[in-house]
Amino acid sequence: MAGVSTQVFTFNDEQTQMTEINFRRLGAIREVEGFRAHLASLKLDVPCDAELLHGPDSPLSWPLERHGIRISNRIVAQPMEGWDGTADGRPTENTLRRWRRFGQSGAKLIWGGEAVAVRHDGRANPNQLVAAEHTRSGLAQLRQALLVEHRKASGSDSGLLIGLQLTHSGRYSRPAAQNRPQPRILYHHPILDRRLGLPPDYPLLADGEIREIIGDFCRAAKMARDIGFDFVDIKHCHGYLGHEFLSAHTRDGNYGGSFENRTRFLREVVEGIRVAAPGLRIGVRVSVFDTIPFLPDPARSESGRLGPGIAEAWGSLLPYRWGFGVNKQNPTEMDLEEPAKFFTLLEQLDIRLVNVTAGSPYYNPHVQRPAFYPPSDGYQPPEDPLCGVARQISAARQLKAKLPNLIIIGSAYSYLQDFLPHVAQANVREGLVDAVGIGRMLLSYPEFLRDVLEGRRIDRKRICRTFSDCTTAPRKGLPSGCYPLDEFYRESAAAAELRRVKAKRKDA
Ligand SMILES: Cc1cc2nc3c(=O)[nH]c(=O)nc-3n(C[C@H](O)[C@H](O)[C@H](O)COP(=O)(O)O)c2cc1C
Ligand code: SF4
Repeated sequence: MAGVSTQVFTFNDEQTQMTEINFRRLGAIREVEGFRAHLASLKLDVPCDAELLHGPDSPLSWPLERHGIRISNRIVAQPMEGWDGTADGRPTENTLRRWRRFGQSGAKLIWGGEAVAVRHDGRANPNQLVAAEHTRSGLAQLRQALLVEHRKASGSDSGLLIGLQLTHSGRYSRPAAQNRPQPRILYHHPILDRRLGLPPDYPLLADGEIREIIGDFCRAAKMARDIGFDFVDIKHCHGYLGHEFLSAHTRDGNYGGSFENRTRFLREVVEGIRVAAPGLRIGVRVSVFDTIPFLPDPARSESGRLGPGIAEAWGSLLPYRWGFGVNKQNPTEMDLEEPAKFFTLLEQLDIRLVNVTAGSPYYNPHVQRPAFYPPSDGYQPPEDPLCGVARQISAARQLKAKLPNLIIIGSAYSYLQDFLPHVAQANVREGLVDAVGIGRMLLSYPEFLRDVLEGRRIDRKRICRTFSDCTTAPRKGLPSGCYPLDEFYRESAAAAELRRVKAKRKDA
């Protein structure tokens, strides 16, 4: 398949790269046959079923039972923060609403709800949730609210697995104020340090500080278990601390350099959790490949209009030593050799739940969450966003083929819009992944797949069209949510503010 070879493929593939923004809007394609033809025209190998099955006949309804884990269907609610906690990290009514909607989705695997910081200064924004004594009852309430709604929607909570995603935001820590980043970094990155304005002598997290953070993860995991969560996710994705360890090739000491050192953080967290919270299951969400940070092409950007994304210059940075899952000689290509080794390590550590994602929303959003419309700090898509979907499907498929015993969750399906159910069904039916993880679509239309499974009419007006407001709003210090399609946000004061900010940008 062009653009998606079985081993590695490039972001510059001539069939898929856009020189102009001329790709087709999926909302304009009404029939699945048209969509399949469109995939074929792009030469993308994205399995897509022509006919949707319902009820127990659908692969999305298949129960999964492996390694003592029981999940009653193949739908996963991906973690999504809302930037709507209190200043000290407790959930608010808006947070509860989001978790209730996760429950209404009918997904039987709730992958963490949202990223919860294991300590106050590890928050990615001043409204992120924190796992601490004073937030214990709030976190318990979130789980309970989800459970109640899930029972109402699905009739029973049998085979429901609820996790809590634990994180430290590392390089993207911004705990106190939206305009006051407080990065905690593991190594100096030649591009990202410049973007964050970090001088060459900006201090690195010391090994002793890392050990304290490991202790925080273990304490938070114990709290999660005591509250009733079935598992915790040790977040290793999207440029945050866990992910940065995996690319800490240039770091000295115990936590950088060799593969063994770069995975020491994970191993020590797992070891600590097994002591502090025996019996608690552990999962890992990991960005299995990265790429060079992208920026809007200056030659094609105008005032108020972002140009198409291009990779920052990397010719002088070879061999490239600041990425995970990238080809060191051409870091715009993925190389899954180390990620496969990482997955083998997970299996050795008896970690069975693995959620495959990619890249980072901060420096390559088109890789992480393919979208038709860019977020305010992004760029116009450098390729048809379907290529981004196909790339994540391909990576998950390759890793699942290598490590068939792991329970592998795929990501980044929301861009598929009306055809998400067809692709999700085919992916599970063909065993490319064990379950499909749904992100943005849950914000706009939580019960989309439940409607499909139960044979109800699809409400096309609620299908996520990847407007990216749920990413733009937080970049402007506003809570995240589906502003265009969810009435709750559409009518809010924050929506008025977001419209004002966006209009100003156009006038600039
Ligand atoms: C508003 C928003 C918040 C997100 N928050 C998290 C998060 O807390 N943890 C995480 O692992 N991923 C987070 N993600 C990424 C999603 O889980 C998912 O990987 C991504 O949106 C691509 O999937 P999709 O195409 O189904 O949206 C977030 C995405 C969005 C849009
Ligand atoms: S704001 Fe709504 S429509 Fe836009 S990407 Fe987010 S969920 Fe989708």
